[in-house]
Order: sequence, then structure tokens, then C-alpha cells
Amino acid sequence: MAKELKLLQKYPTEFSARYDIFRKCEMFFPKDEQLRSFRETFSNLKIEKNSCRVLAVGPYDGAVDIPIIDALDSKQSRTEYIVVEPAAHELKKFESMVASKQEQGDWRKVDFEFHAKTIEAYLQETKTAKDKNDFDIIHTIRCAYCFTDPGSVFVDLYERLEKGGLLFNTISTGHLEKILKKADEVNPGSRRCVGVSNLRKVLQQKLPGIDINTTYRKSSLLVDECFKEESRDENLLLDFLVQTIDFRQNASEEVFNDFMTFMKEECCYEMEGKLLMRMDEEDFLIFKK
Ligand SMILES: C[S@@+](CC[C@H](N)C(=O)[O-])C[C@H]1O[C@@H](n2cnc3c(N)ncnc32)[C@H](O)[C@@H]1O
Repeated sequence: MAKELKLLQKYPTEFSARYDIFRKCEMFFPKDEQLRSFRETFSNLKIEKNSCRVLAVGPYDGAVDIPIIDALDSKQSRTEYIVVEPAAHELKKFESMVASKQEQGDWRKVDFEFHAKTIEAYLQETKTAKDKNDFDIIHTIRCAYCFTDPGSVFVDLYERLEKGGLLFNTISTGHLEKILKKADEVNPGSRRCVGVSNLRKVLQQKLPGIDINTTYRKSSLLVDECFKEESRDENLLLDFLVQTIDFRQNASEEVFNDFMTFMKEECCYEMEGKLLMRMDEEDFLIFKK
């Protein structure tokens, strides 16, 4: 019998188990290219002041922040790096990485502040702290789809930027965008801002007059095993794609079959007998006017 479907984004521990598998399966994902591109973007930024303030939203264990922090550490005399991440155990990993980098003599010009909470809670708590609201850089890498109301979060983030400051956002497109949209239908508690086209629409509506510069990266995800019942890892990958805990076990047969058919027929392609999914992504660069 079908059980209640639980939205993954509400359960940080379960989310981590599934996101770790997703990252392992990104076998065709150009991680080096992504990290190189982040480093280049942040190295080329023109920040007039010697010191800068950064708000890092949803960075998980900080792996994708490394090139950003490296770039800022090598060009700024001081950087304040404020991290907001609700998955407390992943945040701890980020903190440990920082401690070990600083022990080795790296990132000594960077002051870190860690907040184990959602961006919504952070924004609410710092609403009136005027001196805390002037950021030179705010980044939301692959996490906008988790925000309760992405439109109002982005308006608030944009308002907290200094003039000329950068709002940097990475978001999925291709099949991944398509499957996450489908996942919204499966899970009624789900979020509504899942991919490039949706986010572009929301941003242009909520922040009229902004310019969005983009960088595009191609990649693919091997999803072959999601169609097999027995593999634990691949069931976790499937859970990530449908943003639902234990989807195979808990969904009704009808919902499950409909989702799997949609995934196979609309979101996959075949290569050397294996099923893959296009999970291209775009970086949005928005400078505060
Ligand atoms: C797909 S992961 C991306 C992690 C990392 N930025 C990366 O690119 O590997 C989404 C991240 O957003 C975090 N997250 C979920 N809800 C959030 C919220 N309301 N505010 C801030 N971060 C959130 C998750 O805990 C997770 O670390």
C-alpha cells in the first residue's frame, strides 16, 4: 500500500545520504571544469575594496567553495566568509576543512562564520542588523530549488548586495530540470523553482531590469541502475531525482510507474547500452545595479 511521501529537502540527514550518492554518480560531470570556471569567475571579479564580505548559501561540505575561497584569498587582503547551511553535519565537515587548511597556512586572510540554518531563517534573523547586510558576493550554488519561496529569497539577497556586488547562482537545466519538475508533481510539498527556465522567469519578474550573464556547462548522469530494484545506492539516487525519501517503497504503483516511464522516455538517452540523463547546468551572474 502507498505510504506518505516525504520531501527530501526537509530531512537534512536523509538528504546527505542521497546527495553523496548523486555526487558519486556524476561520472560524466566535468567537476574540474566546474571548479576551474568558479575559480576564474571569482579571480576576475573587480572588487574595489581590499576586504570583502561573502555570503555562501547551501554549500554542503564546502567542496565547491574551495576554488572560490582560493581565488578571494589570493586577491583580497581580508575576506569575511559567512556560511549558511541547514545540514549541520555537512557544515561541520566544512568547518573541519577550514581548520585543516588554516593549520597548513592557507586561507589565513579569511574569517569564517558558520550558521547551521536555512537561508530563510538567517535572513529573518538578520533583517534589522543593517551593518550585517552589505555583501560583495552572495552565492547560491545548486540550492535555489530548496528555498521555500525562491522569489522572495532572491529579492532579499539582491537587496543585501553592495552596488556592483555579485549574486552568483548555479542551477540545473536539461533532463535534470525536467525530472525535478516532474518530481514537483509527485510530491505535493515540493518547491517550485527547479531549473534554469523557471528561475530566470522568477528573477526577471521579481527583479525587473537586472541583467543575467550566463555560463553553460554540459554533463551527464548515469541512471541505468535506477531501474533495478535491488541496488541500494541506485534507489538512493532515484530518491534524489524525485526528491522523495524511499520512493520505490512508499509510492503507489501508479505514481511510481508513471514517474519511471516519464524518466525513461522523456529524460534519458542511451550510450553503449547504458541509460544516461543530461544534467547540464548554468551559472547566473547578476551584478547589483
Ligand atoms: C544540491 S545541494 C548543493 C550543495 C553544494 N552547493 C554543491 O553544489 O555541491 C543543496 C544544498 O542546499 C542546502 N539547503 C537546503 N535547503 C536550504 C535552505 N532553505 N537554505 C539554504 N540551504 C539549503 C542543502 O542542505 C544542500 O547542502
